[in-house]
Amino acid sequence: PILGQVASRTTHLRLHTRSWRQCKCASHPGDQSKFVHVRKRSAHGRRKRTRKSAIAPGVDRTEDTMLIEDFRVESPHVQYGEDYITSEYKYDGTECDIVDGRMVLKPTQTTYQFRTEKKVPKLGVMLVGWGGNNGTTVTAGIIANREGISWRTKDGIKQPNYWGSLTQASTCRVGSFNGEEVFVPFNKLLPMVNPNEVELGGWDISSLNLAESMQRASVLDWDLQRQVAPYMADMQPLPSIYDPDFIAANQEARADNVIKGTKLEQMNKIREDIRNFQKERGVDKVIVLWTANTERFSNVITGFNDTEENLMKAIESDEAEISPSTLFAMACILESVPFINGSPQNTFVPGVIETAVRCKSLIGGDDFKSGQTKMKSVLVDFLVGAGLKPTSIVSYNHLGNNDGFNLSAPQTFRSKEISKSNVVDDMVGSNAILYKPGEHPDHVVVIKYVPYVGDSKRAMDEYTSEIFMGGTNTIVMHNTCEDSLLAAPLILDLVLLAELFTRIELKKDGEPEFYGFHPVASLLSYLTKAPLVKPGTPVVNALAKQRAMLENVMRACIGLAPENCMSIEHKV
Ligand SMILES: NC(=O)c1ccc[n+]([C@@H]2O[C@H](COP(=O)([O-])OP(=O)(O)OC[C@H]3O[C@@H](n4cnc5c(N)ncnc54)[C@H](O)[C@@H]3O)[C@@H](O)[C@H]2O)c1
Repeated sequence: PILGQVASRTTHLRLHTRSWRQCKCASHPGDQSKFVHVRKRSAHGRRKRTRKSAIAPGVDRTEDTMLIEDFRVESPHVQYGEDYITSEYKYDGTECDIVDGRMVLKPTQTTYQFRTEKKVPKLGVMLVGWGGNNGTTVTAGIIANREGISWRTKDGIKQPNYWGSLTQASTCRVGSFNGEEVFVPFNKLLPMVNPNEVELGGWDISSLNLAESMQRASVLDWDLQRQVAPYMADMQPLPSIYDPDFIAANQEARADNVIKGTKLEQMNKIREDIRNFQKERGVDKVIVLWTANTERFSNVITGFNDTEENLMKAIESDEAEISPSTLFAMACILESVPFINGSPQNTFVPGVIETAVRCKSLIGGDDFKSGQTKMKSVLVDFLVGAGLKPTSIVSYNHLGNNDGFNLSAPQTFRSKEISKSNVVDDMVGSNAILYKPGEHPDHVVVIKYVPYVGDSKRAMDEYTSEIFMGGTNTIVMHNTCEDSLLAAPLILDLVLLAELFTRIELKKDGEPEFYGFHPVASLLSYLTKAPLVKPGTPVVNALAKQRAMLENVMRACIGLAPENCMSIEHKV
């Protein structure tokens, strides 16, 4: 058993009147596990009461849940070695075949071994566009969390947190104990880097230090900015690759911190920056993430950027059509440093993907999935999954931050439009009862720059669906996104998960050697609008499926069954 006897639930819970707290009470003698009881609060902050369930008379049902910070899986299929957690995992699938003109479904089972390196490295994170709204917000957020800085607003004192981060602020159900659901923080499923311990650095075409650029961003409350600014004043972005052909002309005014030279020299300078950062900051691993301005799409041209060889030749001959983000991606891959693209442009032209595969270097993207698209990947999944037929999806955005300013140019807007448009394809494609071959809902995306709203992006959507017997259902939604406050936790998740995936290896039964996941990290799909996947494999956009994929792979690494939501134990 993981917990000692809970003497009397009511008395015990009374001890836990605050929201989250480590339990050290006498009810759990000799228990090594750290655990916390969470009491749900009403909207007014009052604790909800334990109540008898109306569903099953006589059954004592509480709304309390248990959060386990530390646990061990006891199974013949899991070994906790000195360096690795190893698990043997039976992966169930279904093979579909046509026999005598009829589809035959055959359940299959493959045995995999997963091996996760236990040592969590000292991690360096380098952001491209460090001085932007996202870059400064994630930096200030880490500092405030690390230093325990609270700040005063008109509504009272605020405490730092990592809300919005899947890894830091969400939980996974692992089972039940004495009738109570038991949950584990997502970041405790496997050993992961603590964001407070990340070393930050990066590049920006603007030379402002991070304290100044945080002020320019106008995202965080002033009392917080005032307190974190001393930590950020010495943070100076490195000069970056600026190519006015790839971002809006309105960005030129801030481009005073740029690398000169040919494309090859620029790429080599980025490689050198990464090596210097690693050495100077004494970090074991570096991850680079693009949170710089959205670029226009690059032309993908046969003989130019379609293979590694052609792309390298094009870089060497200083061809104009190679974007700064592609140069960053290539620099990282050649340094075996994971690279993640948080913007919509097609950084990963085929030549980049080929290089990443050859070098076995992780790449992930594209475009953070923070607000409107996240809602879309929930709502359309719900509608199509419910047997309703979305026929028209119209999305308006207006925003007044520098991202919006940059997106006001047609070419950069086009990148965002493409990234936002394909998000319903897999859900529509999954239901041929509703949609004829080739049929799609009308899907329109509009983005306007309205300086007054600043970072507080407004997203308005209208979903119209055809329903039972010729009826129509229309859902209209207004979402005030607080753009960078939604994106910053995703940046953390992307780098922390990418780091974790570089420590996981697997092999099938009978295979001699362990190997890593495919370098195109589709496991990061939950966090991106237009998930980059291994060429030739399906893209999953539905948010719940993306989360389940991630959670279940992590559970497999510690020998736990996938969360199948059947809860048979509660139904007999
Ligand atoms: N919710 C969100 O905030 C969200 C969601 C999805 C995607 N994104 C994308 O994330 C990116 C960043 O968003 P933001 O709000 O922080 O924008 P921002 O304009 O505030 O920041 C971008 C920064 O990148 C810098 N920059 C531009 N080109 C560069 C280059 N070549 N090298 C280095 N630095 C460069 C700019 O000077 C600026 O400081 C945008 O592309 C945006 O579309 C944001």
